[in-house]
Amino acid sequence: MAPSRALYTSSRTAIRRLQPLGLQQQRRCISAYGYEQAKCLVIDKLGEPKDVLRLHGHSISPPHGDLLTVRFLASPINPADINQIQGVYPTKPTFTKDLGTSEPIAVGGNEGVAEVIAKGGNVKGIERGDWVIMKKQGFGTWRTHAQTTADNLMPIRNKDGLKAEQVGTVSVNPMTAYRMLKDFVDLKPGEWFIQNGANSGVGRAAIQLGRLWGYKSINVVRKRESGMEELKNDLKSLGADVVVTDEEVESKEFRDQVKELTNGGREPVRLGMNCVGGKLVNSMAKHLAPSSHMVTYGAMSKQPVSLPTGLLIFKNISFDGFWVSRWSNENPEQKEACVTEVLDMTRQGKFRDIPMQPIKWDYNTKQEELVNAVQGTLEGFRSGKGIFVFGKT
Ligand SMILES: NC(=O)c1ccc[n+]([C@@H]2O[C@H](COP(=O)([O-])OP(=O)(O)OC[C@H]3O[C@@H](n4cnc5c(N)ncnc54)[C@H](OP(=O)(O)O)[C@@H]3O)[C@@H](O)[C@H]2O)c1
Repeated sequence: MAPSRALYTSSRTAIRRLQPLGLQQQRRCISAYGYEQAKCLVIDKLGEPKDVLRLHGHSISPPHGDLLTVRFLASPINPADINQIQGVYPTKPTFTKDLGTSEPIAVGGNEGVAEVIAKGGNVKGIERGDWVIMKKQGFGTWRTHAQTTADNLMPIRNKDGLKAEQVGTVSVNPMTAYRMLKDFVDLKPGEWFIQNGANSGVGRAAIQLGRLWGYKSINVVRKRESGMEELKNDLKSLGADVVVTDEEVESKEFRDQVKELTNGGREPVRLGMNCVGGKLVNSMAKHLAPSSHMVTYGAMSKQPVSLPTGLLIFKNISFDGFWVSRWSNENPEQKEACVTEVLDMTRQGKFRDIPMQPIKWDYNTKQEELVNAVQGTLEGFRSGKGIFVFGKT
């Protein structure tokens, strides 16, 4: 849920009145009288990010009662964030007039980590300096500051040894990989799963969690002009057993190889995970043992999943879907436990970061720079996930 109404009590005009002129010109984030000067990337209508996103400034009054003020540390740009802004995602951004505008606006972004910098007298269990992540989608995380209530936040109980970028990216992709590996098939150590989009955030998390739990993985990535061997080696270094291209997975040679790898089916491929769609899903499903599950969680190619009926009738393959937002809403305690577990693995060096492209966001960062970073997210063959990293101002 988004920060609630009546939290942003002062407009920019009000803060200007409160500040001596000299201070205004310095444009510091923490203003006189405890007001925070916040900036956020917002939309007032749905559309292509480059057309609808703009930088908006507003001020936040000191928190009282149940309110907390947080300062964001790191917020990733996930594919779903773009789809949400485009209006092709099941949940819409949270529009509000509470950020000092006459028409409703919504802050982009759904994932991130923030530090509590001030709290009202009634807030219990969260202290200044604590790191928090968002409990649910729709908070709006592409912002320097927010004011909200504790029920929207999940405190990180132990942030020792962790970087903000690691905590800010834990709650979507690793959770998705974790639940898909655990909730559809009771995979035994030594058994296999097959996935596409294997170099995505989710795919990399699945490789690593699968390896830690003793599962073997066949990882499908898109064929690329250059850097193919490097990518294969990179995924193998995470624990991938096999990495193939979307072309190779179709071949007779690969089918024979799978027979060999699975010991003639005695260590079967019982789970598939798909974030690409199209005919590739059919090619992957052919490697599944009878009564396996293929879980779809994304549609990066924008192609529908197309399947021959024989897979349903004769092999009894089940085709499922997974949406981490629904899971998070329905299982808040389990989410906290999973987040804690993955962060422990990260701290112990057992769970490696995804490649990231940090976009530094300071008080003076230009709108164009931020919007371009968002717009570029759906371009393929990227070297890392874009992540806003906020400066301490
Ligand atoms: N259902 C859920 O709960 C849930 C949760 C998290 C993520 N997701 C979905 O999972 C997918 C991956 O998300 P992420 O955050 O892990 O991604 P990411 O780290 O941003 O990586 C994007 C992935 O998509 C691939 N890709 C991009 N354009 C493509 C295209 N036209 N055809 C095929 N593949 C393409 C990229 O491959 P290349 O390197 O070859 O371009 C890369 O593997 C997205 O669809 C996202 O919405 C769903």
